[in-house]
Amino acid sequence: MSEEEEHLVEQVDHHSRPFEPKHFDGEYPIVVKGLVNRFGDQTIHDRLDLEVRKGEILGVVGGSGTGKSVLMRSIIGLQMPKEGEIEVFGRSAEELLDEHEVDIRSRWGVLFQGGALFSTLTVGENVEVPLKEFYPELDPELRHEIARYKVRLSGLPDEATSKYPSELSGGMRKRAGLARALALDPELLFLDEPTAGLDPIGAAAFDRLTRELTDVLGLTVFLITHDLDTLYEICDRVAVLADHKVIATAPIPELLELDHPWIQEYFNGPRGRAAKSGKEDLEARVASSTGAKKTKAMDTKGKSGD
Ligand SMILES: Nc1ncnc2c1ncn2[C@@H]1O[C@H](COP(=O)(O)OP(=O)(O)O)[C@@H](O)[C@H]1O
Ligand SMILES: [Mg+2]
Repeated sequence: MSEEEEHLVEQVDHHSRPFEPKHFDGEYPIVVKGLVNRFGDQTIHDRLDLEVRKGEILGVVGGSGTGKSVLMRSIIGLQMPKEGEIEVFGRSAEELLDEHEVDIRSRWGVLFQGGALFSTLTVGENVEVPLKEFYPELDPELRHEIARYKVRLSGLPDEATSKYPSELSGGMRKRAGLARALALDPELLFLDEPTAGLDPIGAAAFDRLTRELTDVLGLTVFLITHDLDTLYEICDRVAVLADHKVIATAPIPELLELDHPWIQEYFNGPRGRAAKSGKEDLEARVASSTGAKKTKAMDTKGKSGD
């Protein structure tokens, strides 16, 4: 881009959000550079880089204990990194700590590993927690109404609003957690192993919901998962954590070309092959029943680059 063009770009207000810095063009709402995390003498991340593209579902995979959850916690400011830069919507952590800023936490929603609903609150009350925190002046009736809407948006029946988490199935609890994550109309959604512990049908339904909400609400999703079906079905790109870094970020077909041992074992092992052929079978069925072109998100949404 020429200097003149850069200047022009600076003049254009790309965003309705007034507090975004001028250099942020919105393409990568999350940028991680040179991230280092250590606990004692255990190195978790060693100069890790990652970019999450606007509008994508980025799958994050890696062996157990490779630091996927720590990475997520670093991005949302719950874990102070030893070194490195993390920018969310073009803002560094230090800038975000500036109390004059509009609270960035209202622009993302998080479904933590295990769900972490308050067990003494109903589903509706759980969804109201962030609403109360960020909009204390909101009329209670309206707050209840918003909570009910988020519960329905997450594919739960209306009655679920007044149930306690212990009265729900695992899949419904995940949806309740999702409803709470969506409480503030976030632009970014963080999901940490959302389908872990669900049966295959429940997991597939949750995946479809994630994809649908992403597209309808225009979300950008950081999705940690072990679930190969999830990766094949709904992720636009997949970031692989290994050797304390993100060793690759790409659509799965491109990952399959790489000859890293973990990637080969994971994606080309028996489970990986089953997930791949499941995806291909499904596509073949869709194509033959509708004569339609492929609906795979990465084909319609993918941009050039990487
Ligand atoms: N607060 C913490 N204090 C010490 N060690 C931690 C802490 N959080 C995570 N760890 C360690 O960091 C490593 C990565 O953890 P985690 O990100 O939870 O892995 P995963 O990729 O399975 O999500 C693990 O060995 C874990 O024990
Ligand atoms: Mg984890």
